[in-house]
Amino acid sequence: MTADTQVLAGRPVRRIGFGAMQLPGPRVFGPPRDRDAALAVLRRAVQLGVNHIDTAQYYGPDVANELIHAALHPYPDDLVLVSKVGGQRDAEGGWIPAQRPDELRQGVEDNLRSLAVERVDVVNLRVMGEEEGGPEARVPFEDQLQMMVKLREEGLIGGIGLSNVTIEQTRTALARTDIACVQNNMSLLHRDDEPLLELCREHEIPFVPFFPLGSAFPGMPKVTEHPEVRAVADRLGATPAQVGLAWLLEHSANVLLIPGTSSLAHLEENLAASGVELDAAARSSLDQLAG
Ligand SMILES: NC(=O)c1ccc[n+]([C@@H]2O[C@H](COP(=O)([O-])OP(=O)(O)OC[C@H]3O[C@@H](n4cnc5c(N)ncnc54)[C@H](OP(=O)(O)O)[C@@H]3O)[C@@H](O)[C@H]2O)c1
Repeated sequence: MTADTQVLAGRPVRRIGFGAMQLPGPRVFGPPRDRDAALAVLRRAVQLGVNHIDTAQYYGPDVANELIHAALHPYPDDLVLVSKVGGQRDAEGGWIPAQRPDELRQGVEDNLRSLAVERVDVVNLRVMGEEEGGPEARVPFEDQLQMMVKLREEGLIGGIGLSNVTIEQTRTALARTDIACVQNNMSLLHRDDEPLLELCREHEIPFVPFFPLGSAFPGMPKVTEHPEVRAVADRLGATPAQVGLAWLLEHSANVLLIPGTSSLAHLEENLAASGVELDAAARSSLDQLAG
């Protein structure tokens, strides 16, 4: 392994990958505004060395996976595709739970079909708590995990990841089975899950922050808009996004990034973050920013 790579489900991947959530239409619902541009972003990502792509059947729904298939199939041998199950969309684009074991199986089968693979490299069990998913999400975590283990035993998924989990759920899962990665909300400005990141580091499990730049959703603090991030970026001759991503890369060696973008320019900028070095003054001011 070099400093730029990490092992994910037994395969080497570059530490900066790509998140496909920005490729469908607005609010991750419906087709992209510009299909050719979305396909071009995926192809350019792989051309620039991305070999870890994060997706979900429910991005669109059915849109992100279809774009990945259209742009990249037959997939390069080194590409690790990571999807997730546990959610679906209603007719208005609302995010609703699909956490029952039969729904998890259906979710994996939908991914197999749309990505046209016999096995999805890694599938994250994306947990919706009751506060996010309502009573429908009230399915015991152990039952969900048991189905994921079964799907892996059947060879339909290569590795089991966890997403949006508590540290207790992660401990429960680790006591039961191997975990390929953990994907929770984290950025320079949002660090509630430091203890979980530490647990993953102890167990040598990749931690994959979602919303590494603060997401596209309104009402969430954007890393690229923070005045201190912008000041550091100006001083180092980098962009604010690169500073936010470089901070995450330096923060812990088990971090794998999947920034999402629909823009070729942003894609190239984000991938170049691996070449941005923060100095001691930058680290010290950025370390103090978490809300
Ligand atoms: N497990 C989960 O529950 C979960 C939840 C959310 C996301 N995810 C995964 O995590 C990935 C990352 O999260 P995310 O895409 O929601 O949010 P994100 O990566 O934090 O931010 C995406 C937003 O940042 C903008 N952006 C990207 N690069 C930029 C740059 N260089 N300069 C300025 N703005 C930039 C994008 O706009 P442009 O399109 O204009 O670049 C978009 O608005 C997703 O793609 C998805 O695969 C998982």
